[in-house]
Amino acid sequence: MARMRKKKNLIPRMEACSDRFFSDPAANRGKWREACSMPEDCLLFVEIGCGKGLFSEQMAKKYPDVCYVAIEREVSCCLLAMEKAKRAELKNLFFIPGDASSILEYFGENEVDRIFINFCDPWTRQNKPKRRLTYRAFLATYRTILKDSGEIHFKTDNDPLYDFTLEEMKDMGFETTCVTRDLHRSEWNEDNIRTEFETKYAEQGIPIKRVVGIKRELLVKKDGSDI
Ligand SMILES: C[S@@+](CC[C@H](N)C(=O)[O-])C[C@H]1O[C@@H](n2cnc3c(N)ncnc32)[C@H](O)[C@@H]1O
Repeated sequence: MARMRKKKNLIPRMEACSDRFFSDPAANRGKWREACSMPEDCLLFVEIGCGKGLFSEQMAKKYPDVCYVAIEREVSCCLLAMEKAKRAELKNLFFIPGDASSILEYFGENEVDRIFINFCDPWTRQNKPKRRLTYRAFLATYRTILKDSGEIHFKTDNDPLYDFTLEEMKDMGFETTCVTRDLHRSEWNEDNIRTEFETKYAEQGIPIKRVVGIKRELLVKKDGSDI
């Protein structure tokens, strides 16, 4: 994806959104609900790579009782997402202008109910599978922060990335459900919230692929290798 140009007045605009993010997100590790002034027993959803934040905004609106935290490493994108959340006066949507590779620093073990990954970079042309956000090393970190039976909701336009993700999920102890290679013509379309990239790809006639991975026990053989 082309990098966004630095936004004008980045610093004052970030300051105006200071109620949307935390200067030290790692300090909230294990206590996000409390830090976000949300009830202790509410669900915690985390979105990785939220871009300009349309999906985050719609999700937080649809589920006002859920504590929703979106991670985005491009600060300019994150700013637009935060401004959107502020305009919508959403009390349950917060941001981490940071990188998913630090997710274990941000969230505690078994803290998160659901993770969303939408239209992440497939890294197919450069053939760098380890950089994919669904590479097994990333999935291992998501396993740590997810509760038992916690879920990863994944959408993509890209067939090789989708096939790769299904395999990686299975190998890393996620049961794959709600599998579809054409989400917009599936039974799940009605409940689906489209992201910015999803709308763009759908307009080009590209079918959207979706899978939900549910965290199950990761079985290990006596010799220590995974089953
Ligand atoms: C192709 S865009 C998709 C944006 C949005 N999810 C959508 O579907 O419209 C991917 C986004 O993920 C972000 N991203 C990629 N790798 C990331 C990482 N390791 N941590 C946080 N954000 C990441 C990028 O900066 C970009 O904004």
